Amino acid sequence: MPDPARIVIDTDPGQDDAVAILTALASPEFEVLGITAVAGNVPLELTARNARIVCELAGREDVPVFAGARQPLRRPLVTAEHVHGRTGLDGPDLPDPTMALDGRPAVSWLIDTLRAEPKGSITICALGPLTNLALALLKAPDIAARIGRIVLMGGAYFEVGNITPAAEFNIYVDPEAAQVVFRSGIPLTVLPLDVTHKALVTRARNDAFRALGSPAGVAVAQMTDFFERFDLEKYGSDGAPLHDPCVIAWLLAPDLFSGREINVEIETLSELTRGMTVADWWRVTDRRPNALFVGDVDADGLFDLLTDRLSRF
Ligand code: RIB
Ligand code: CA
Repeated sequence: MPDPARIVIDTDPGQDDAVAILTALASPEFEVLGITAVAGNVPLELTARNARIVCELAGREDVPVFAGARQPLRRPLVTAEHVHGRTGLDGPDLPDPTMALDGRPAVSWLIDTLRAEPKGSITICALGPLTNLALALLKAPDIAARIGRIVLMGGAYFEVGNITPAAEFNIYVDPEAAQVVFRSGIPLTVLPLDVTHKALVTRARNDAFRALGSPAGVAVAQMTDFFERFDLEKYGSDGAPLHDPCVIAWLLAPDLFSGREINVEIETLSELTRGMTVADWWRVTDRRPNALFVGDVDADGLFDLLTDRLSRF
C-alpha cells in the first residue's frame, strides 16, 4: 500500500460504517480524499447526515462529504432500520452536523477526481450498496482503468445471506450495480459475511472501546451496543459482527486476513436468489478470477488494530 494510501470512502452509515470511517480518519497511512454517501441502511438524507456526524466526531470537518444515489439503479430502495435504528446511527446521542455537504454530486466528483489524479493512485473503500460506483463507471467507463483497487464489504458464500437466505444486504439492495463493479475488471478485494461474521464485538472488545474514554471511543461502544441487539437475537452470537471496518483493516494489515483469488458473479435475474454472490471458491468453472474473496481473519488482531487506531482520537 502506498504511504499514504489515497482513498475514497463510499458509505451508507450505519454504525459499522461509522467505525470504519473513524478508523480510517485516525490512521496516518490514509489520505481520505472524500466520503461519498449512498442510500442503503437508511435513506440518502440520513446517510449523508451521518457521514458528516462521524467526520465531526473525528474532528475532521476538512474531509468533504458528497451526496450520491438516493436509490438503486433499477430497483426500489430497501433499507435496514430494523438493524441500524431510525437514524441509521442509533446508540450514541450525537449532535446534528454543522459542516455542510459539498455541493458537487458524488458521482461527478468521483469521475473528475479519478480523471485528475495519477492513474491507479486511488483506492475505493465501498461500505454500502455499489450504486454510486456503478453510476460513475456507466457514465465514464474510462475511469475503470484509473482506479487502483476497490475494497468492498459485501456478499457471502459459505455464510449465506443476512437479508435473504441467498444474499448479503449491500449486494441485495443493488445487484445490477454490483454486477457492473464485479465485471469492471478493476482489482477487487471482497470482505463478505464469511469473514465479517468472525469479527464479533464481544463484551470484552466493546469494553475496550468504552475504556478509551474519548468521545469517539465511547460513541463506538454505544454504536456497537445498539447494533449488537439485532445480531444477538438473530445469530445468538457472542457480539455483533463489525462488517465495514474489515475493509479499512484489510488495507492497514492484510496479513490479518486470508482468502482466494476467484471468480464471483452476481445473481440479478431470479427474485429468489437476487443479489447472491456466486463465488467459485472451488474453481469448478473456467470463469476468470475477478476478486480476492476473503474468508478468514485473526479477530483478536483485528480488534487490537481497531482499538489502537481509535485510541488516537
Ligand atoms: O450486510 C452488512 C452490510 O450492510 C454493512 O455494510 C452494513 O453497514 C450494511 O450496509
Ligand atoms: Ca455499510
